[in-house]
Amino acid sequence: MQRGKGMRFVGDSRISADKTSQVPKDYSEYPGRTEAFWPNFLLKEWLVGAVFLVGFLTATVVAPPPLEGIADPTAAGYIPLPDWYFLFLYQLLKYQFASGDYVLIGILVIPGLAFGALFLAPFLDNGPGRRPPQRPIAVSMMLLALIATIWLTYESAAAVDWEARKEMNKPIPPGETVEIDTSHPGYAHYEANCLACHGESMEGTAAGPTLIGIEYSAEEIADIAVNGTGNMPPGLFTGSDEELEELVDFILSVNEGGE
Ligand code: HEC
Repeated sequence: MQRGKGMRFVGDSRISADKTSQVPKDYSEYPGRTEAFWPNFLLKEWLVGAVFLVGFLTATVVAPPPLEGIADPTAAGYIPLPDWYFLFLYQLLKYQFASGDYVLIGILVIPGLAFGALFLAPFLDNGPGRRPPQRPIAVSMMLLALIATIWLTYESAAAVDWEARKEMNKPIPPGETVEIDTSHPGYAHYEANCLACHGESMEGTAAGPTLIGIEYSAEEIADIAVNGTGNMPPGLFTGSDEELEELVDFILSVNEGGE
């Protein structure tokens, strides 16, 4: 049989002429004005979107954004700061007309107007022209929003001491890990009195440093266990002298084993 015999073709040989639903409408009466949404318009949009997506991915790989480190629930002096893409909204709330008594303007009215306008854009900006000079209002509002966002972000970022934040936000290091001898007589005392802050295998937690690799004598460790040190409160160990000795012995044994 001859190829294609008995079939009628439209422009695309995969679409039979009977299947009119997939044939783009003829817009030749409106030259330059419009085009079929599917597939012409969407394809263009997706292509542009793909270019931007790849661009963003490349940018994030080349210059990692200054995002925050791991949250530390014990850091009392920590001042929260939004991530960079929300800094402009954060900056807005610093102005008198958008804070204090007028904070509703800053958190609801202004962002509401901006996003509302974006939602309503198809209805507000419904002229036939698609070139920027033919749409002065929409284009100038978009430019204004863009400039405002960039300027607010810049203002906000300029007021932050990024070096200090970087220092504060250092990721908590995973730390050394060692085998813990849970059959050691001192382990039970460690588990009962110290584990909550110093970690299951002495690796440390947000509430206390690692006890691996410390260079204290038995007397010093015993003293710290009873009297505390720095941010570690006193009176944490309440057992007998003999139990204290077992505990210290256990901590020392792990440290010897870990070296
Ligand atoms: C409430 C949480 C908490 C508990 C429970 C706790 N510690 Fe601590 N510990 C800390 C903190 C916080 C530090 C750091 C103190 C500082 O340097 O400011 C610390 C420091 C230490 C240090 C010194 C570490 C170093 O590198 O200088 C030793 C040793 C120590 N703890 C032993 C113990 C022992 C033994 C126990 C169990 C009796 C215990 N800790 C229970 C919070 C705790």
